[in-house]
Amino acid sequence: MDILIIGSGGREYSIGRALTFDENVGKIYFAPGNGATDELGENLAITDFNALADFVEENGIDLTIVGPEAPLVEGIVDVFKARGLTIFGPTAKAAQLEGSKIFMKNFLARHNVPTARYIETTSIEEAYWFIETLEAPIVVKADGLCGGKGVIIAQSHEEAKKTAGEMLSGNAFGEAGTAIVIEEFLDGYELSVFAVCDGKDYVVLPAAQDHKRLLDNDEGPNTGGMGAYAPTPLVNDEIYRKLDERVIKPTLKGMEEEGMPFTGVLFIGVMVVNGDPIILEYNVRFGDPECEELMPLLKSPASELFYKAAIGDLKSANIEFHDKYAVGVVMASKDYPYKSSPPAEIIIDEVHHEELEENTHISFAGVSRGEDGKLYATGGRVLVCVGLGDSIKEARDRAYMLVGQVHFAGKQCRTDIAYQAL
Ligand code: AMP
Ligand code: GLY
Repeated sequence: MDILIIGSGGREYSIGRALTFDENVGKIYFAPGNGATDELGENLAITDFNALADFVEENGIDLTIVGPEAPLVEGIVDVFKARGLTIFGPTAKAAQLEGSKIFMKNFLARHNVPTARYIETTSIEEAYWFIETLEAPIVVKADGLCGGKGVIIAQSHEEAKKTAGEMLSGNAFGEAGTAIVIEEFLDGYELSVFAVCDGKDYVVLPAAQDHKRLLDNDEGPNTGGMGAYAPTPLVNDEIYRKLDERVIKPTLKGMEEEGMPFTGVLFIGVMVVNGDPIILEYNVRFGDPECEELMPLLKSPASELFYKAAIGDLKSANIEFHDKYAVGVVMASKDYPYKSSPPAEIIIDEVHHEELEENTHISFAGVSRGEDGKLYATGGRVLVCVGLGDSIKEARDRAYMLVGQVHFAGKQCRTDIAYQAL
């Protein structure tokens, strides 16, 4: 089958890469893709949803996979489905689980899914009142999509009030912040859990852990994610069971009951507090960089997972994972996450080492191909070095060996990815 992947990041690269090992897959297209996805398939400079659907029809593409949240929230799945095309991802209505934090929190409350105590409000008086009922730190969240920047952990009541005021006035995040969620701070460890869903049935992927802060020891500003690993030993059967019963099942049942069955990736941001999974947030797509570690762990053909989920037939799929670990280290540009950096040529040492060649690879993200045919770092998160191994330590050592072979001016990366597991 021929497949179109929507998106341009390392996440989409890793999905495309997994599909290149799949005998059932013919041609792969990316829209828009990046400077390296053209080595896995063909990049398309089409953004309009109807124009994309035209291309899919004209070229007999069998399946479209949507990587990022923005096109999902904007309704790409609705456009494709109305035209009878097979697409993997939630409808715009179902994508509100990520698109609106207020929708998500109220949904969790309606279906008794454990989450932090909260209020949603558009009123500064109500915000002040609720803040006074909490102990610091206090979490203030803008309702809409803010590119991962809409959550502030205020260290004092003063700061929480100031943040709430700035959001509600529209000064902080424009329209996306004129309604907010205020919630209690949860103290525990964070997990990224992914369930691939077909509306009714689901497959839970090995639990991962992301590293959101820029610097080692979880210091510095929040980023999109500086590295991840999976499976994490911080999850045991008991936690998986609780997630299944308290979170995934009621969520899928609730979405179905409310007339928006969920198809696609349910990304569950979990805080484990005293052994209990509490939901921080839902996203409706794979995490980036988590996807870059999960795709190489997938033993079954990737097309089976995505296609069967898209057509509502996961029940007939038998999805298996390798009994291995994957660690991914993000290499970012000089001024990430503050501002963009000048393009820098990427040079990768040619090292012939069988063990490394078999167990490491790069998922390219913020890269462009220059007119000279060379690859340049042009985005914030430039690429992810992924290592596989029989232990987390082995996978991590291999990932960092690959990091040592990649050069571009101003490169930065964390040196402690997977530290919580070692
Ligand atoms: P979110 O986009 O809601 O996942 O928030 C981004 C990050 O803020 C999360 O990954 C957590 O690290 C942190 N966070 C969000 N909500 C809470 C909370 N209630 N307690 C503690 N940390 C939180
Ligand atoms: N890595 C976290 C995210 O994709 O939101």
